[in-house]
Amino acid sequence: MTFQAGFTVAIDGPAAAGKGTVSKAVAAHFGFAHLDTGLLYRAVGARVLRGADPVEAARGLTPDDLGGKLRTPEVAQAASRVAVIPEVRAALVDFQRSFAARDGGAVLDGRDIGTVICPNAQVKLFVTASAEVRAERRFLELTGQGHDTTRAQVLEDVVARDRRDREREEAPLKPAEDAVTIDTSGMSIDEAVAAAVAAVEARRG
Ligand code: DC
Repeated sequence: MTFQAGFTVAIDGPAAAGKGTVSKAVAAHFGFAHLDTGLLYRAVGARVLRGADPVEAARGLTPDDLGGKLRTPEVAQAASRVAVIPEVRAALVDFQRSFAARDGGAVLDGRDIGTVICPNAQVKLFVTASAEVRAERRFLELTGQGHDTTRAQVLEDVVARDRRDREREEAPLKPAEDAVTIDTSGMSIDEAVAAAVAAVEARRG
């Protein structure tokens, strides 16, 4: 059994729900390419923190921009702020759609992949977890990398970012109607990956 050309797995969900881990594992399991679309918004946010105009930054994004230090709390908030701007989102659409259409299959993770970027994706997953569980995971990740922060601060950041991502007018974070929801609150990484792999297997042609 094989996958049709351009087979796309769309993985959406709130911050720190485990989308990145699940996406990478699904891509590795099936040999698909993976695009973390949050990195595009983070790269725009990072350029804005350095004084750029958000729309110009999005239109002029280069692969070099994706290599910087983008996984910081400041850049995450800046990404969420630029992501409300329709012209920023529009500038990033073509790149994401071309990536999704590649021959060998692709996994894209973000907030609007199943709803806006790839509404015809063969598999749509909504990976979520409670705010407390997500904040705890992010807290351990950040302190593990040497960041000086508190659980309360991380929870506040996660809740603020989710609210902005869910309540924006353009392409808000929400599950596609035909998405399979995976709530990872009580799951190990292996269990979450197994659930995602099973959902992809179910759509194999
Ligand atoms: O997935 P992430 O935490 O790296 O995303 C950072 C921000 O980018 C997120 O808070 C909102 C924005 N984003 C978006 O609006 N649409 C996407 N497809 C991916 C990310």
